[in-house]
Amino acid sequence: MSQCNCDNPLVPELVQVSHIIEETSDIKTFYVSTMEGKKPFTPQPGQLGMVSLLNIGEGMFSITAQGENHLEFAIKKCGMLTDALHEIKTGQMIGVRGPYGNGFPIEKCLGKDMLFIGGGIGLAPVRSLIKYCFEHRDDFGSIDIVYGARSMADLCFKEDLFEQWPQEHNTKVHVTVDSGDENCPCNIGFVPAFLERINPEPQDKMVVLCGPPVMIKFCLQVLKKMGFTDDQVITTLEMRMKCGVGKCGRCNIGSKFVCLDGPVFTMAELNGLPNEF
Ligand SMILES: Cc1cc2nc3c(=O)[nH]c(=O)nc-3n(C[C@H](O)[C@H](O)[C@H](O)COP(=O)(O)OP(=O)(O)OC[C@H]3O[C@@H](n4cnc5c(N)ncnc54)[C@H](O)[C@@H]3O)c2cc1C
Ligand code: FES
Repeated sequence: MSQCNCDNPLVPELVQVSHIIEETSDIKTFYVSTMEGKKPFTPQPGQLGMVSLLNIGEGMFSITAQGENHLEFAIKKCGMLTDALHEIKTGQMIGVRGPYGNGFPIEKCLGKDMLFIGGGIGLAPVRSLIKYCFEHRDDFGSIDIVYGARSMADLCFKEDLFEQWPQEHNTKVHVTVDSGDENCPCNIGFVPAFLERINPEPQDKMVVLCGPPVMIKFCLQVLKKMGFTDDQVITTLEMRMKCGVGKCGRCNIGSKFVCLDGPVFTMAELNGLPNEF
């Protein structure tokens, strides 16, 4: 039996890990499907799933992609739950509940040029919207993807970055690493400086930005200098979450619950909230 019939939204569904990709030394992508080989639920880009392991606990993760019969989570090994998740093998059962959160405001982006900026594991949530844009290519203008990691070995989703996405219509992929040698096939330097060199035009453009806080801070400064307004910049927050359904009060910023009202906000929306994130 794969699903509890008690109608409790906090009870996870048992799913099977059908495929695991080692993205980097500390990031793995897990494909999960129900026992019947189906997708557990159909999320919108930017939505979340609570992933659990019996006897260890659960944690909220962005759903980085979905196929007809599976969901994908890209998980960085950094603590008790994620260390244990990195030990699991294909075929093993885990728990998943969701979808949670508001997802990206797709209607705000329709007809616009898109600039995606990601750093490290921050590409995981952004990737769900990038894939949506490619699946609905005529609904969006040009697409620029700026992505950075510490080194070549730390870049995730390499097949997307170097093989799939550069082939898409009216799309440019700009990759940078903090450090590398003369054989490095991409730019060497930090994301904000690279963004400044790319120098995107702000007209009719939406920006989706996710990465470590220091990258976000300096990218925002660069975007502002170029003339982007706070309403054009969308980001996704990583507040600690427990229930995911607006009950426990763990994730609130002022009157907003990040698990219900977020995790996706425009910078204009964030500027109206207390600085607790
Ligand atoms: C909306 C949302 C989306 C997320 N998406 C992803 C994703 O796609 N991929 C991914 O790998 N992780 C994601 N995370 C983070 C994930 O939920 C876990 O919190 C994180 O992976 C730590 O897992 P752990 O339980 O193994 O670590 P723990 O054992 O709980 O902690 C390890 C260390 O990290 C710190 N820490 C843990 N979580 C956070 C946090 N959220 N903010 C600040 N410090 C923290 C702890 O204080 C501790 O120092 C997301 C979190 C949220 C809230
Ligand atoms: S995680 Fe419980 S209220 Fe948001």
